[in-house]
Amino acid sequence: MRVLVVGSGGREHTLCWKLSQSPRVNKIYCAPGNAGIEATAECVKVDVMDIPGLVRLAILKEVELVVVGPEAPLAAGLVDELTAAGIPAFGPNKEAARLEGSKAFAKKLMLKYNIPTAASHTFEEAAPALAYLDKLAPPVVVKADGLAAGKGVVVARTPAEAREAVERIMIQKEFGAAGDRVIIEEFLDGEEVSVLAFTDGEAVIPMVSSQDHKAAYDGDTGPNTGGMGAYSPAPVLTPELMARVEKEILYPTITGLRREGITFKGVLYAGLMITADGPKVLEYNARFGDPECQVVLPRLESDLAEVMLDVINNNLSERKLRWSDDHTACVVMASGGYPGTYEKGWIIEGLEEAATVEGTYVFHAGTARKGGKIVTAGGRVLSVTARGETLAAAVNRAYAAVAKIRFQGAHYRRDIGHRALQS
Ligand code: AMP
Ligand code: GLY
Repeated sequence: MRVLVVGSGGREHTLCWKLSQSPRVNKIYCAPGNAGIEATAECVKVDVMDIPGLVRLAILKEVELVVVGPEAPLAAGLVDELTAAGIPAFGPNKEAARLEGSKAFAKKLMLKYNIPTAASHTFEEAAPALAYLDKLAPPVVVKADGLAAGKGVVVARTPAEAREAVERIMIQKEFGAAGDRVIIEEFLDGEEVSVLAFTDGEAVIPMVSSQDHKAAYDGDTGPNTGGMGAYSPAPVLTPELMARVEKEILYPTITGLRREGITFKGVLYAGLMITADGPKVLEYNARFGDPECQVVLPRLESDLAEVMLDVINNNLSERKLRWSDDHTACVVMASGGYPGTYEKGWIIEGLEEAATVEGTYVFHAGTARKGGKIVTAGGRVLSVTARGETLAAAVNRAYAAVAKIRFQGAHYRRDIGHRALQS
């Protein structure tokens, strides 16, 4: 089978790597890919938002499965166009992808189907949003409605921060049209966990749990990022809580969407806060998380290509997934300045040495090849991932590999897995 993976980050490197292990897959293309993905896939320079270009590529290469990594092409209807062209595509269609693409839409669905989440209000104008803030005691959470690469959320600790967030989103339009609406919501206290699940629109099969580290700096300080590291499993999600997540969140979401006439197929990602009242939804994503994918897929022992075909062909209820008991950890090495502005083009050294550390996988995120060297080409540069019999072993291996890698301005968190390691 010939497969096309769409995207160019650490998630897509992991997807290509995992799909390459399937006996059914004999050729992988990746559009546009990165310098690390080249090891397992043929990279083709087509942008993730060039929908006609991607459809043409899939037809030209006689691709039998397209896997869409990032949210933007899902929200733009890539899966709809591929399906219309008769090409099996893994991921939700445009309508279903609204679950991630509009936080206001997601909130409405949760309210209607009694899915636990933070109390919230949605505003279409800045003035009433600012007036509403005057009535609230911080902390409050301010969110841009649309897609903002994980950066459109501000947890405001002071009234001034909350006002500034509304102004940046709605008046300065820092995230463009994603800020046409703003959601102001109750601050939830607790520990976060990500639950990803395969779904064909009826059956739902959760994957093993993971925890992302969204803040830029150690101790969960600094601005929000796309994710600075992750580990799996997350012990905060006990088997009892996982059963509640399935019953109170995952199934009601999929059946609620179906009642609205929407079939969601692909990966449903529930970003949860485990509060004193139980699990509550912080956000949905319509795809694998990045870097959650990097820690979840190395633990999957089943054939990923087969699972994806089952999702597309509505056969998921027949499927059982097998998982390794190993723990995994991923440390993201980022460019100096990320998540703000950063420079590109710095040479990355030590990749070969890092790959020799037992049990590690150096997944590339923002890298490119330049004159025979591998250079930085994005904010998140590498997802250095490792497995071990314990979380401590996985974390130690990941950091041993990180220590061998050098590039100008590199920064990374030194406390990945801290919550689970302390408990
Ligand atoms: P989101 O993109 O909606 O998941 O938000 C990004 C991050 O902001 C989350 O991972 C949380 O750390 C934080 N966050 C979002 N909503 C809330 C909330 N209601 N209460 C506390 N923290 C939140
Ligand atoms: N790591 C969070 C996300 O992928 O949205």
